[in-house]
Amino acid sequence: MAEELIVSEAADKAGKYKGLLPQIEALVTGEPDLTANLANIASALKYGMDFFWVGFYLVKEDELVLGPFQGPIACTRIRMGKGVCGTSWEKAETIVVEDVDAFPGHIACSSDSKSEIVLPAFKDGKVALILDVDSDQVSDFDETDKEYLEQLMRVVEKFL
Ligand code: SME
Repeated sequence: MAEELIVSEAADKAGKYKGLLPQIEALVTGEPDLTANLANIASALKYGMDFFWVGFYLVKEDELVLGPFQGPIACTRIRMGKGVCGTSWEKAETIVVEDVDAFPGHIACSSDSKSEIVLPAFKDGKVALILDVDSDQVSDFDETDKEYLEQLMRVVEKFL
């Protein structure tokens, strides 16, 4: 296993994702443990992309429950349809929120979080977990994040 990730500071956002994703895939390949892989992915994204908060919420019965994350402490349980994460789970689709204050029902785990992107990963056709990435800047996420983070969720689905 590589001891550190290599991410070019000079690269633009797409370039950073392009450099990081194969390294993340290598990091989880051959390791079947869900917690270990999600923990390393959260760290790789947080430090590789310099995000404010990166974490996973796992579908457990009728709630999302906080899983491995990097960043300030966060809410532990989210109901289906609640907040951005619960809405992404209910709709089974990626949600990009440019301004969290403009998203009805947004759950503010940290007042420093200003924008976010939330993506589902599927097992047997159902949402099994949610990736939540937060920024302390408004409008920090766009189609580029959606494209590459959705690719990452397809990698996650290989070990779900
Ligand atoms: N903002 C999320 C809650 C999770 S925290 O941001 C880590 C939401 O509205 O679902």
